[in-house]
Amino acid sequence: MPLVTTKEMFKKALEGNYAVGAFNINNMEILQGVVNAAKAKQSPVIIQVSSGALKYAGPKYLKAMVDAAVEDTGIDIALHLDHGADFEACKAAIECGFTSVMIDGSHYDYEENVAKTKEVVEYAHARGVVVEAELGVLAGVEDDVKSDVHIYTDPDQAVDFVKRTGVDSLAIAIGTSHGAYKFAGEAKLRFDILEDIQDKLPGFPIVLHGASSVDPASVETCNKYGGAIAGAKGIPEEMLRTAASMAVCKINMDTDLRLALTAAIREVLAENPKEIDPRKYLGEGRKRIQALVERKIDEVLGSANKL
Ligand code: G3H
Ligand code: 13P
Ligand code: ZN
Repeated sequence: MPLVTTKEMFKKALEGNYAVGAFNINNMEILQGVVNAAKAKQSPVIIQVSSGALKYAGPKYLKAMVDAAVEDTGIDIALHLDHGADFEACKAAIECGFTSVMIDGSHYDYEENVAKTKEVVEYAHARGVVVEAELGVLAGVEDDVKSDVHIYTDPDQAVDFVKRTGVDSLAIAIGTSHGAYKFAGEAKLRFDILEDIQDKLPGFPIVLHGASSVDPASVETCNKYGGAIAGAKGIPEEMLRTAASMAVCKINMDTDLRLALTAAIREVLAENPKEIDPRKYLGEGRKRIQALVERKIDEVLGSANKL
């Protein structure tokens, strides 16, 4: 069975009021933790790769590992380019065999975002690949682009954008942000905007970036064993569950996996100072990522047994 696109995944997710998890990977252990969890839960899954990950591991290695995961698990896996910066990045991913790409024109002005997205949509659709775009700006850092404030998605603009670009799914800004420091005070998401968008674009797949919950237990373990991650705060899981039951059908998580892996490595090495076998600490990291993703599938996404 080959890699799949997200088309059917999103259709079923919208009908079933759940979401599919999109997890960032950079190496074999992260990938195996994620897909082993999805297999155990019989859940579809989206494996996503950023330009930083492509630079780190190389497209050929990442693609070959994801192909191996498809063969090994037999579950529905889509391979997605996360935050594609321009047409060239999307074209390269499509040529490499990705089944889904994101063109992130959110930092450009509206008309430029429309034009860039349309160009990628035409190229991708001609090759059977689906496209995600973004409208509105998430506060925080995305690759090298930093924004201090949220620019919430305008629902009327979202309708115009989808109509003019022909894009398959849309990432929106409702208060989430990338990384481990999402809120200084109380967590707040603009569900009113999400509701307005789903009313104006009925049946259209919405994507939530910056959706890690920043598990306090992982943060505590990191800090206990030499880390210095103070004041980290993520999106409460019940808010994500609410979003998943609405028009949100793709929920992006990277930071939660990073924290689980880092906590495992710190703990194993601190508890076993003589250990030099990478399989011991990376293997523990893989186990914790699997446990984390299984829990997300059950308690946040609602995507178990949806293959
Ligand atoms: O959106 C950001 C993702 O967490 C990917 O992060 O660009 O450091 O790989 P990265
Ligand atoms: P987090 O930093 O919240 O995990 O978000 C990841 C993401 O949106 C990747 O595109
Ligand atoms: Zn993102």
